[in-house]
Amino acid sequence: MKIVMLGAPGAGKGTQAKKIAEKYKVPHISTGDIFRANIKDQTELGQKAKTYMDQGLLVPDELVVDLVVDRVNQPDCDSGYILDGFPRTIPQAEALDKALEELGQRVDYAIDVEVPDENIVRRMSGRRACVDCGATYHMVYAPTKKEGVCDRCGGSLILRDDDKPETVKKRLDVYHEQTQPLIDYYKSAGILKEIDGTIDIEDVFSEIVKILGE
Ligand code: AP5
Ligand code: ZN
Repeated sequence: MKIVMLGAPGAGKGTQAKKIAEKYKVPHISTGDIFRANIKDQTELGQKAKTYMDQGLLVPDELVVDLVVDRVNQPDCDSGYILDGFPRTIPQAEALDKALEELGQRVDYAIDVEVPDENIVRRMSGRRACVDCGATYHMVYAPTKKEGVCDRCGGSLILRDDDKPETVKKRLDVYHEQTQPLIDYYKSAGILKEIDGTIDIEDVFSEIVKILGE
């Protein structure tokens, strides 16, 4: 099962992708997480990506595409995977389709998690991420057991650099310009599934399970 998650920044792609990965036992591949890990490790890729991410801009396609194509060719992706945050531009989607075609494969589902812009800024200001393991929480909608402490690893929680309101607004503009066209792209391919992302986390997941099957 090869799944692409679509949706605005903060729509809940990562939250749902983790749940899908757990239930269907496929790897969760998040390009945002890969970049953040590279920033933390101060790699060359991380340093390059950071200059774009901090401004709310997309990292150039050439820094993303090969990385993802290599990743989906790893043996643990044989039975499928869930891509979260990729593709984000039409050229990225075309590059993915081309790479899959060479293997005689295709994307099975593109799941678009829909949340209006007004809700997004509110969600982002409450999001907290673990500095150590990257787990994501929300102060109101997905709180930790102990305030400021990661449930999973005990690490401390921070507001992501790019979750400041002015950067979130820029990310939304970039989303509408560069990423939203993918909705039509996957609609034309006949694999688009649209989901209401404004309902509770568990209810969103139930809708996804209805699509993917038990
Ligand atoms: P990335 O990390 O992919 O960020 P994003 O797409 O902006 O998505 P987010 O991680 O912000 O949100 P999400 O939809 O995963 O929401 P979440 O589940 O956390 O990318 C960051 C940057 O990296 C980009 O700006 C770009 O620069 C670069 N980049 C990455 N991939 C790239 C690519 N392919 N090409 C070029 N550049 C790339 O949920 C948000 C919050 O809401 C959480 O606190 C959560 O707990 C809460 N929440 C979730 N669901 C619900 C719900 N149903 N109800 C209430 N609260 C909810
Ligand atoms: Zn943690």
